[in-house]
Amino acid sequence: MRSMTPSESSGTKKRIFSGMQPTGEAHLGNYLGALRRWVKMQDDYDCIWCIVDQHAITGGGDPAELPGHVVDLAVSYLAVGLDPERSIIFVQSDVHEHTELAWLFNAVTPVGDLERMTQFKDKSQRVESIPAGLLNYPVLQAADILLYKADGVPVGEDQKQHLELTRDIARKFNATYGETFPETEPLIERGVGRIVGLDGDAKMSKSLGNTVPILAEPGEVWDRVRTAVTDPQRIRRSDPGRPEVCNVFTLHGFFTDEETRADLADGCRSATIGCIDCKRVLSDNIVDAFGPFRERAEHYRAHPDEVRQILDDGAERARIIAKQTMEEVRERMGIAWRNAVGT
Ligand code: TYM
Repeated sequence: MRSMTPSESSGTKKRIFSGMQPTGEAHLGNYLGALRRWVKMQDDYDCIWCIVDQHAITGGGDPAELPGHVVDLAVSYLAVGLDPERSIIFVQSDVHEHTELAWLFNAVTPVGDLERMTQFKDKSQRVESIPAGLLNYPVLQAADILLYKADGVPVGEDQKQHLELTRDIARKFNATYGETFPETEPLIERGVGRIVGLDGDAKMSKSLGNTVPILAEPGEVWDRVRTAVTDPQRIRRSDPGRPEVCNVFTLHGFFTDEETRADLADGCRSATIGCIDCKRVLSDNIVDAFGPFRERAEHYRAHPDEVRQILDDGAERARIIAKQTMEEVRERMGIAWRNAVGT
C-alpha cells in the first residue's frame, strides 16, 4: 500500500484516523503494526486517534472491566508518544455521532457484504447465537473513519477488508445521496502488517495469549519471551537452527542492531548460541526500547486527572468535526423535517 506525502495535499495536511479496541494495555503487535507509525505520522498529518469502546462490547467482555481498559489504553497511547498537543485523542462513546452515522450507513450497506467479512466469519463461529453487533461491526468502523472524512487509516493487515468495505460504503453513499465522503486509503506498512505471536504461528493477539504487553515490567517481558516458539527443527541445543524461519529472529529485526543480529544468526546456524540466549538478548532489548514508555506510563497512572482532561479535550475537538459532518449527512438523507415547515 502506498504512503501519502503531505505535499500531495494542496497546502492543508491530510487527515489520518485510526483506533484500537480497549482490551487492556497495547501489545507488541499493536505497537509494531500501528502505534509506532501513528507516533511518526503526527509530524506530517492532521491526526485523530480513537479508543473504540463501542466496538469492544461486541466481544462480550465484562462491563465492570471496560472503563479500566479504556484508561489503560489511553495510558498506552500517551506512553508511546501520542501527543494531545498535536493530535486529537478521544474515546468513541464520548462522541455520539459515531453510532448515529453507523445507523444511517446501514441504509447503504448490503448484508451480503457484511456476511463475507473474514473477521465476522471467524468470530461468529465461536458463539452460539450471533449478536447483530458482530455483523454490523464494520459499519461502525466505517462511521468512525468517515465521520472525520479521513484521507488515510494506518492499520495492520487484519483490518484491510474492513477498510475496503469503508470505501464501498463511501462510494455507495456518494452515489445515492451526493458527493460527501472521500474514498479513504488503507495505510498498511509492508513487513509489519501481521506480527506473529509468541506461539510462532498465529497473529499476535490478546485473545490468544501470545503477546508481549508493551508496558510490562522487565520480569514479565522475560516470562513471556522465554516461552516463544523457535525453529521447530531445532530440538537440542546442538542442532543447527534456521534463523530465517524463527519468529524470535524476526522480532530481533525490530529491536536489535544489525551486527548483533548477524552474530546471533551465525551462532544459531552453527549451534554455538542456544535459543534461550537468543531470547534473552531479545527480551533485554525490548525492555530497553520500552523503558521510556514505562516511565511515562507511570506518570500518567499517578495522574489520572491529566488523562481525563486529555480525553475530555480530545472529545470536545472531535465533536466539532463530527457535528459538521452529521449536519451534512442528515440534510442529504432527508433527516431534516424542519425543511418541510420552514425554520
Ligand atoms: P484492534 O484493536 O484489534 O487492533 C488495533 C491495531 O493494531 C493492529 N494489530 C496488529 N498489527 C500487526 N500485527 C498484529 N499482530 C496486530 N494486532 C493488532 C490492528 O491491525 C489495528 O490497526 N477494528 C479495529 C479497531 C477499529 C478501527 C476503527 C481501526 C475500530 N474503528 C477505525 C481503524 C479505524 C480493531 O479491532 O483493531
